[in-house]
This record gives sequence, C-alpha cells and structure tokens, in this order.
Amino acid sequence: MRRLLYPTTLKLFLRIQEAQMETVQMNIDSQVYEFPVVEGTMGEKAIDITDLRKNTGYITLDNGYQNTGSCQSQITFIDGEKGILQYRGYDIEELAEKGLFTEVAYLLVYGKLPDAKERSEFSSLLTENSILHEDMIHYFDGIPPTAHPMAILSTMVNAMSIFHPQFFVEEKNELVFKKMVARLISQIRTIAAFSYKKSIGEPFVYPRHDLFYCGNFLNMMFNSPVKPYVIDPEAERILNMLLVLHADHEQNCSTSTVRLVGSSRVNLYSSICAGICALWGPLHGGANQEVIEMLEEIYRTKMSVKEVVEKAKDKKSNFRLSGFGHRVYRNFDPRARILKKSAQSFLRNRRINDPLMNIALELEEAALNDDYFIERSLYPNVDFYSGILYREIGIPTNMFTVLFAMGRMPGWIAQWKEMHDTVPFRIGRPRQIYTGVTQSHFKPVEER
Ligand code: CMC
Repeated sequence: MRRLLYPTTLKLFLRIQEAQMETVQMNIDSQVYEFPVVEGTMGEKAIDITDLRKNTGYITLDNGYQNTGSCQSQITFIDGEKGILQYRGYDIEELAEKGLFTEVAYLLVYGKLPDAKERSEFSSLLTENSILHEDMIHYFDGIPPTAHPMAILSTMVNAMSIFHPQFFVEEKNELVFKKMVARLISQIRTIAAFSYKKSIGEPFVYPRHDLFYCGNFLNMMFNSPVKPYVIDPEAERILNMLLVLHADHEQNCSTSTVRLVGSSRVNLYSSICAGICALWGPLHGGANQEVIEMLEEIYRTKMSVKEVVEKAKDKKSNFRLSGFGHRVYRNFDPRARILKKSAQSFLRNRRINDPLMNIALELEEAALNDDYFIERSLYPNVDFYSGILYREIGIPTNMFTVLFAMGRMPGWIAQWKEMHDTVPFRIGRPRQIYTGVTQSHFKPVEER
C-alpha cells in the first residue's frame, strides 16, 4: 500500500511545487521566455538565468557584478539597506561581544557553534598546527626589510602548498581538510608575527601552547629578549573582536577570488593566496592602512575637514575618502558602528586624546551632512575606525591589512568548502562581449 501511495503523493507534491514556483518572463526578439525565480531564506530574490544563452543566444553584462549572484550560500547574510550582518544566522553584534574568534571560525567553516568537546579539540588542533615547517623559516632570510607584509603573507601562504601537498580536492578526506583548516587559521598568525619581527630585525618568537589565539599572536609580535611582553587582556579582547568582525562578508572581491581560483580545483592554499592578493588593494582590505595614512596626512598638513570633503567630491582630484562607501551597504556598516563605539570607549577608559580619532569623527560628521555623500548613500565602512584600534594595541600601520586577512581566513575557507560541496560543481568562467577589431591579416614586419 505504502509503495503505491508514495509516488502519487510525490507527484502531487511536485505539481503543487510547480504551481507555486515563481517565474519571470523576458521578451527577447519578440519571443517570450520564462525563467525561474530563486528566493533565499531571508526573502532575497534572483532570476535564474542558467539557460539564458542556451535558449536565447544572449548573455548578461554586469560591470563590476553589481547585480550578479555567483552562488547560493548558507554562510553569511547581509541586508545592506538595513545594515544587517549575520554569520550562519547569528547577528554580528552578538558574536563580536560574546564570541571567541576560534569559535566563530568553527561556526563559519563547520556550520555550527562548537560544543565544549568540539571547541577543545579544535583548539588543540590549532595549537598542534601553529608552528611553520622549519624549512619555511629560511624563506624569510631573503626578504628585504622594505617588503610589504601582505606580499610576504601571500608568498608564505602559497608556500604552504609546497610543504603540505595533501590536497582535499583530490582526496575528499575530512581529516586532511580539518588539518588544513587548522594549519591555515593558526599559521597565518605565525607568519604575520614573523614577518613583523623580520622587518624590525628581532628574533622570531614561537607560538605557545598555553595561550589563546589572540594572546599568542600578541606575544609573538611584541615579546622580545630585551623587553619581555605581558599580554594586555584589553588588547586581547579588542583583537578578538576585530578578528570576529572581519571573519566573513559573503561574496566580496577577495572571497569571490578565492571561489573563482578554487573553482579550477587548485589547492586551498593557492586559492587563499589569491584572496590575500585581492584583499591587499586599497579599494578592499588595503583601505584600513589608507585611512590611517589619510588621517595622519590631514593632521600633518593641518588641512581642514571641509577641504578634505571638497577634495573627495572633486572627481578631478582622484582622491576618495578612504573608509567610506560600500558596494552593499546603503546604510551604516554595522561593523563600523561597533568599531567606532569600541574605539571611543577604549580611548575614554585610558584617558587618551587621539588627534586622529578626533579628525575621523569630524570627517564622519561632515560627510554624513554633505549632499554628495547623502545622495550616494556613502557611510563609514569597517575600515574607517579599525585602524584607530589597531594602532592603540600597538599594531604597525603596514600590518593592518594582514590583520584583516587573519580575520577573513575562516570565511575564505568556509566559502571554498561550500563551493566544493555544491552539486554540480563547475569551473567559474564568465563570458564577454567582444568589442575589438573584426578581422585582421598578418603581414611581415617590413610591410606594416
Ligand atoms: N569618497 C568619495 N566618493 C565616493 C567614495 C568615497 N570613498 N566612494 C564612492 N564614491 C562615489 C563615487 O565617486 C561614485 O560617484 P558618481 O556616482 O558621481 O560617479 C559613487 O560614489 C558610487 O561609487 P562607486 O565607486 O561606483 O561604488 P562601488 O560600489 O563601485 O565602490 C567602494 C565601493 C567601497 C570601492 C567605494 O565606495 C570606495 O572606493 N571607497 C573607498 C575605499 C574603501 O573604503 N574601501 C573599503 C571597502 S569596505 C571593506 C572591504 O570590502 O574591504
């Protein structure tokens, strides 16, 4: 009986589903085509154009991918109009206040917050995998002190594929993957601290098994044989919050890079190396360094805030207000709100009068009351206030973007993993509209 009933029920169910499936119609060359609408769990809608070219001969053009969804994802949700950011359903405000970075990393990569046993296993794995292969240390020997730490970081992360050639893609081995995750999240911190030590000519400080993730990093950065470092719990808390805030941000430039590069089935280390390179740019993660350099320049030259705002509006100046504007947020970036509040309370508690913070506050107020910024919905983004906090906990300016990369590591890994688990898993390969010369014929050089 059950066997007979089951297919009938299923057919009925599918018919109801079909009837309910939303579609959109497109009139192309006087013919009507229907395309399915995909709706996310938070009500966002997309037109599924997978069959557009096959059925119509047309492709879509979308400069800068402003309207293009490259995947369906269960990792991060952003509502740019309302200023909402969630990782796996948890509000960023809650995670930044209560979460350990390592717990948030676990949440992003494995889809759930770890219980006590899982958290302790994950911590042990991070500790066991925190030390670089000793031969990798020699790589640092040839690096000039002038090298940007982001260049060092991307080189070293790619070099990890030389030392750890077991790749998850081929093997689909969960244990290998778990180790790779721990190695990347843990060793990026060791590489970051070592590149700083190299730049100041001090001996490397190795990771310790008895310290938490952030304290361990601060110790590797600031401990030295001549001046022993005592971990400041407030610096540790702030660093933890900063890393949590940066841990994922759905399909931004670097994450899309990790996915696109990874879609060729290259290994995880090389995919993430590509993401680090994308992050370095001043329109993306490099903006945190640019913001502080801009504030320092304003302070040094005594330029008025009004002059800076006018310059940012002048298209001929080629100058933008770093740390302002966002592709997705048309409202306050929730991360910027948290960072501003945090920077203010840190400075207040320590009775620090930071002239750069004062300039940042003035700039924000001037911009938010200026028609140019209002019309374009330009608000401070995550990079506007993060540098103030990095500076206060002793991080040098050229390391800011490295810290962004440390925070983003779990997000990149989670997105790479999700892409590999997607069926069907296809290589990313956009199309183009060719606008060049139609036909040429080769002539010998004397005749050209
Ligand atoms: N200062 C002055 N004008 C700006 C700014 C700014 N910071 N940002 C955007 N605009 C103007 C831009 O000139 C354009 O004006 P118009 O319509 O007259 O041509 C309009 O606003 C729209 O800008 P867009 O460049 O088309 O916007 P986009 O979505 O392509 O770019 C952005 C987003 C973040 C790259 C851009 O806002 C920007 O360059 N901001 C400064 C760099 C920055 O802070 N980057 C960090 C981004 S958040 C963290 C991260 O992702 O890493």
